[in-house]
Amino acid sequence: MVVVTDENEVRRLLQAEHKLVESAWPESMRNLLGPNAILTAPAKAHKKQRQILSQAFTEAAMRLYLPTILDVSRYTMEQWAASKEPVLFYSAARAFAFDIAATVLTGTRFDGDTLVKMREEFDVYADGLFSLPLNIPGTPYGKAVKARAYIVAEIERLILDAKASNEAQSTGRKNALRLLLDAQDENGEKLTMEQLKDQILTQLFAGHETTGATLSRVLPEIQRQPHIMARMRQEQAELIQKYGDEITYEMLEQMPYTDAVLKEVMRMHGIVDGVWRQALEDLEIQGCRVPKGWTVQLMVKKAGLAMPEFQGDADRFDPSRWLEDGAPLKKEPKGFMPFGEGPRKCLGMLLAKMEMRALLAVLARGYTVELDDPNEFWFQDFKPVNKLPGRVVKYQA
Ligand code: HEM
Repeated sequence: MVVVTDENEVRRLLQAEHKLVESAWPESMRNLLGPNAILTAPAKAHKKQRQILSQAFTEAAMRLYLPTILDVSRYTMEQWAASKEPVLFYSAARAFAFDIAATVLTGTRFDGDTLVKMREEFDVYADGLFSLPLNIPGTPYGKAVKARAYIVAEIERLILDAKASNEAQSTGRKNALRLLLDAQDENGEKLTMEQLKDQILTQLFAGHETTGATLSRVLPEIQRQPHIMARMRQEQAELIQKYGDEITYEMLEQMPYTDAVLKEVMRMHGIVDGVWRQALEDLEIQGCRVPKGWTVQLMVKKAGLAMPEFQGDADRFDPSRWLEDGAPLKKEPKGFMPFGEGPRKCLGMLLAKMEMRALLAVLARGYTVELDDPNEFWFQDFKPVNKLPGRVVKYQA
């Protein structure tokens, strides 16, 4: 296997998907995602699936999801504030992201038991994704296969409900599943039941680990540097003064400072280290020959950390590096690819941005998160050893 960290090469190869390289995730992941998953689909199937699935991730779709996202954000913050026990924010942020993914993608109620059970099964499922693919009971992979069967059965039930327009089990609002039931490719073909099940499963996976982990990384940073939270509160106060209290889609698009905080978190603590590809022909990468068929790992996080634009103080958490006179940089450094690049660039990017902005807007307007230890050690830069215990208190300006 060849590991590529140079920003130009990483970008070039991501853009050359289906021509020079092809997605090549490990066998455990391919099996557990299912034969129809977009993340692992080969070129022709991928193009077709992307055409259909992207119809649930347009800006217009985001506007339909916003009320649900705001409900879940406010409900979550209230739950955290009301908790008598310390909140473990690493797990709590992932649970929030899962609740968003499940409600927005499938219309599941965000305060019901189905969601809690699905979340638990999903943790077991996710633990097996990168494990030895031997289906033996008791092993991470064996447990994941069992959890997958439960989740897929639940997804099938939700699909049947959506088909029958059974509002009782859903929020009654538009969700991705309802859009996908009607979506067609250029030949008028729709997704089959089997395809829909694998796609919803993939999106639940791709959509919550990433966003949850990113949000949990924001909390220590804003506690360590109180001026960052103060600036986020000021941004909300200015928006309220200009547009009123209600959080609208337009408002979420006008939060350059909060966005800069998120970009800085993704630059320093990017949750996707690298993506896996296979060479479709002999390649030359930085002067080295890589034979056809070899696996190539494209390290998006390392490429971002090494961006020449920020060298000198790359280790400092500083959102202001993403701003020019208070507005977003006119030209973003091209090494910054937290959502990937090219034909497989993250399908849920707009959704991820919207839910992260929504939660931070609700937080900055009325709450303070107090972690017991904002300097808690992150094991392999991936998981905080104590899962970030702390509490939420209400805040008034
Ligand atoms: C901070 C949050 C997120 C990050 C950092 C992130 C990152 C990424 C990256 C790097 C890829 C490219 C994978 C590759 O090239 O092989 C990707 C693909 C993908 N992401 Fe995300 N993602 C996030 C949130 C989401 C959300 C919320 C969803 C949907 C609910 C989602 C759905 C997908 C899907 C379906 C793909 C596969 C696209 C394809 O193969 O065409 N992601 N994501």
